Order: sequence, then structure tokens, then C-alpha cells
Amino acid sequence: MAPGSFAEYTVVPARAAAPVASVKPEYVTVPVSGTTAYISLKELGGLSEGKTVLVTAAAGGTGQFAVQLAKKAKCHVIGTCSSGKKSAFLKSIGCDRPINYNAEHVGTVLKQEYPEGVDVVYESVGGAMFDLAVDALATKGRLIVIGFVSGYQTPTGLAPVRAGTLPAKLLKKSASVQGFFLNHYRSEYQAAVEHLLQMCADGDLVCEVDLGDLSAEGRFIGLESVFRAVDYMYMGKNTGKIVVELPHSVNSKL
Ligand SMILES: NC(=O)c1ccc[n+]([C@@H]2O[C@H](COP(=O)([O-])OP(=O)(O)OC[C@H]3O[C@@H](n4cnc5c(N)ncnc54)[C@H](OP(=O)(O)O)[C@@H]3O)[C@@H](O)[C@H]2O)c1
Repeated sequence: MAPGSFAEYTVVPARAAAPVASVKPEYVTVPVSGTTAYISLKELGGLSEGKTVLVTAAAGGTGQFAVQLAKKAKCHVIGTCSSGKKSAFLKSIGCDRPINYNAEHVGTVLKQEYPEGVDVVYESVGGAMFDLAVDALATKGRLIVIGFVSGYQTPTGLAPVRAGTLPAKLLKKSASVQGFFLNHYRSEYQAAVEHLLQMCADGDLVCEVDLGDLSAEGRFIGLESVFRAVDYMYMGKNTGKIVVELPHSVNSKL
């Protein structure tokens, strides 16, 4: 989380660090991805038993947590992803209805199987996916804008959405769209980290990591492989949080 984190070593204030039971990549999923899902759904989701929750990029770093936390709140969870392998992963973490958008049209599935709409959307893809999610909102539905990864590689960084019709669509459903940015929720952060680390240590939460073993040049090791890892993410190849291993470059005992 601290500036300069793409480094083998960095010095951070004690308050920016959290103790972990052991050193394993799974814990890396917590500080950004886990807390984003945990705090946003807690503060903005209004989750309760029986609600329908749609998670986009559900098999990714943060999506996996949104799926599991919504299931723990006894919601019905739909998750979008790009492959059969990711669909299988989503099933394994409790997702009720994975949608592989390369095999099925998300809008059609939502219309046919969820005619009443979805109550909460955890949306991190943007563009056309955002538009489909807005159209799928139930009356008084809430869409939480977590990100818009489909636009990050464009010159503006934004994927276009049908913004012109948005006010009318929201009014007709008394629905809402709200942004969430982790940095604005510092007061909730420490408790979220502690809770998630405990769940992770207790085996109560799947913290899936992708170390790059299936990527063209193999496991992501060393700072120089950060570029490969980011490309792999934009190709939609990762399942879970991408982790780049930084081997000890000096003898830590010295
Ligand atoms: N608001 C906050 O405070 C906050 C904090 C952390 C992260 N985020 C956001 O959360 C989102 C997920 O981040 P993450 O680190 O956990 O990544 P991630 O979900 O592990 O990886 C991104 C996933 O998005 C999909 N994707 C990638 N490139 C795409 C493209 N060009 N068009 C459409 N889909 C694409 C892929 O999933 P499929 O192949 O399954 O489509 C990919 O696996 C990002 O939007 C990020 O900015 C927000």
C-alpha cells in the first residue's frame, strides 16, 4: 500500500504494516483486494439474506472476495468471467451463477434468469459491462463502481458508457450508482485487514493467487516480471490475485 511498493525492500511506518501468521502469497491478497471488497460491500452494499448480487471480473483479485463475502451474507451471487476455467473456480468458491461472457451473453442471461433484477452490483469492468449492469438493476438496486479495467489501456483511461440515459434509468428504478475508493475509508481499514487475515488464517476464506505458472514465460519472479504480470492481467488470463515473487536480493541476516 505504501508508495514505492514495487521494490524488493521498502521502509513503511509501523501503522502501515500488519502482522501475519506466516509468510505466504495468499496474505498479499488482503491489503488491497480483500479490503476493497470487504469495506465497499459493508459500507455501501446493504447486503442481507436473499438479495441478489452481481460481481463483475468475479474470478479476479478483488472479485473473488466480493463473491465469498456476499455468500457469507446469504446472498445469491452471480459472477462474470471470461473462461470455463474461471467459471469452475467461481463455482468452487460458492458463486451460484457464474457467467462466462465468452460463452453466454451477460445481458440475456440476466434478463431471462433474473427478471426482477439484481439488488447489488460490485462493478469493476466499466464500459459495456457497466451499461449491462445498470440495465439489470432491480428497483432500489445499488451499483458500486469499483473500477473500469476495460478502459485503463485507452488514451483517456475510461471506457465509454451510455451516460446520457443514466439519470432516467436510475430515477425509474429509484436505483443508485456510487463510487468507492479504498483510500477514503482509512478508518475502516485496520479492522478489515485484521478480520480478513484471521479468516484467511482460519481457512474460512479462499485467497486465490496466480503466480504466473501458466503464463508463456512461467512464474512471475523478480521486479522485471511485473510487466509480464500486468500484461497477463490485461489479457484476462489470471485467476485470483496476481502475485510477483521478489526473491531476497541480499542476505537478510546481515
Ligand atoms: N476502488 C478501489 O479502491 C479499488 C481497489 C482495488 C482494485 N480496484 C479495481 O478492481 C478491479 C480489479 O482489480 P484487481 O487488481 O483485482 O484485478 P483482477 O480482477 O485480478 O484482474 C482484472 C480482471 O478484469 C478483467 N479484465 C482485464 N482486462 C480487461 C479488459 N481490457 N476489458 C475487460 N475486462 C478486463 C479480467 O477478468 P475476466 O478475464 O474474467 O474478464 C481480469 O482478470 C480493477 O478495476 C481495479 O482498478 C479498485
